[in-house]
Amino acid sequence: MPAAMLPPAVAVGELPVVVAVATGFGLLIALVGIWVMWWLRTRSIGAMLAVVVVVAVAATLAGVVAIIMRMIIEGPVKDFVLSVVAVGGLVGLGVAFVLAKRVVRESRRLVAAVRDLPFVAPQGLPAELQTIANTLEEAYARERALEGARRELVAWVSHDLRTPLAGMRAMAEALEDGVVSDRATVARYHGQIKLEVERLSAMVDDLFELSRIHAGALRLSRSRIGLADLVADTLAGAEPLARAKGVQLTAEAAAAVPVEADPGALGRALGNLVVNAIRHTPSDRTVVLRAGLDAEGMACLSVTDCCGGIPEDDLPRVFEVAFRGEAARTPTADGGAGLGLAIAQGIVEAHDGMIGVVNDGPGCRFEIRLPVVGG
Ligand SMILES: Nc1ncnc2c1ncn2[C@@H]1O[C@H](COP(=O)(O)OP(=O)(O)OP(=O)(O)O)[C@@H](O)[C@H]1O
Ligand SMILES: [Mg+2]
Repeated sequence: MPAAMLPPAVAVGELPVVVAVATGFGLLIALVGIWVMWWLRTRSIGAMLAVVVVVAVAATLAGVVAIIMRMIIEGPVKDFVLSVVAVGGLVGLGVAFVLAKRVVRESRRLVAAVRDLPFVAPQGLPAELQTIANTLEEAYARERALEGARRELVAWVSHDLRTPLAGMRAMAEALEDGVVSDRATVARYHGQIKLEVERLSAMVDDLFELSRIHAGALRLSRSRIGLADLVADTLAGAEPLARAKGVQLTAEAAAAVPVEADPGALGRALGNLVVNAIRHTPSDRTVVLRAGLDAEGMACLSVTDCCGGIPEDDLPRVFEVAFRGEAARTPTADGGAGLGLAIAQGIVEAHDGMIGVVNDGPGCRFEIRLPVVGG
């Protein structure tokens, strides 16, 4: 209502009445506000803040209405309006205080839960805090799993390093002390030491490669290559191992299937699959390498062996870092560190591809799928 229309004066005695009416309305609105906020307690903090604002405005408006009603009769406008606005503000502050106390209390609950490891997300928090708590719980679980895998890897790798090192040390000492002197044994010790050094170097290279993959620092220099060439190179590289083991290694590559790939890295991934296949196939059996297109038009590389099948429980785990099947965990001359498939997976995924394994016939089939380049 414009000031000019207001009556010139309101009796000073009206002030307590107007304040009392505004306070009454304010308390009523505050109670409603607190009830609405209790009802919204697991919803967004934004929704609760909106309630605070609505409460503050409603309380102020209620006061203004009260003052206007009194002023139609009489009164000094300024003081009344100011005191009513002050009451409205106080009501808003009171409700905001209640909200702030709740936010602080719930945040403290969350912090206490985070400190109390293993972290389990407390329930019944406001929406944003609940999302944070749930995300934290997932992150902690992931971190715990990763930490477990890392610890396992360190334990296995240090074991794998210690065993051949102990052997090499014994052989070196025997050579040094002249305990062995016949030419044949000396030559065998030298050959064995060289073999172990090569194996340890390969393991250190694998660990380095894996740490680069995990750090996202794998640099691919991609070019257009044909899968048939890649298969031919891998076959040539694995031929000596297959011959030594008495395993027949054959390849079937369809006509040119072009992919955009780093031939070195992808060759290494495929090589890891082929070495595994040869390692797990008994002599006189076959390992087949295939390259072609799958039903969905993706480029597909597969390695099929005669390993007797991987236990169903192990199938989803073979790509985990440091995973080794039961038999592979017993240290043998050709036992690995459980890094080959994790490296292959990292390389394939860096090529926007997928890698998988299924049991197939007398063995299993590892498959790499990659997008084909058009044209
Ligand atoms: N072709 C296969 N046939 C049967 N089991 C396999 C085959 N390939 C992998 N596995 C199982 O998966 C495990 C992990 O394979 P991965 O290549 O990652 O490690 P590794 O061969 O043991 O060691 P590394 O490759 O580091 O020398 C193996 O220990 C084995 O149990
Ligand atoms: Mg391997």
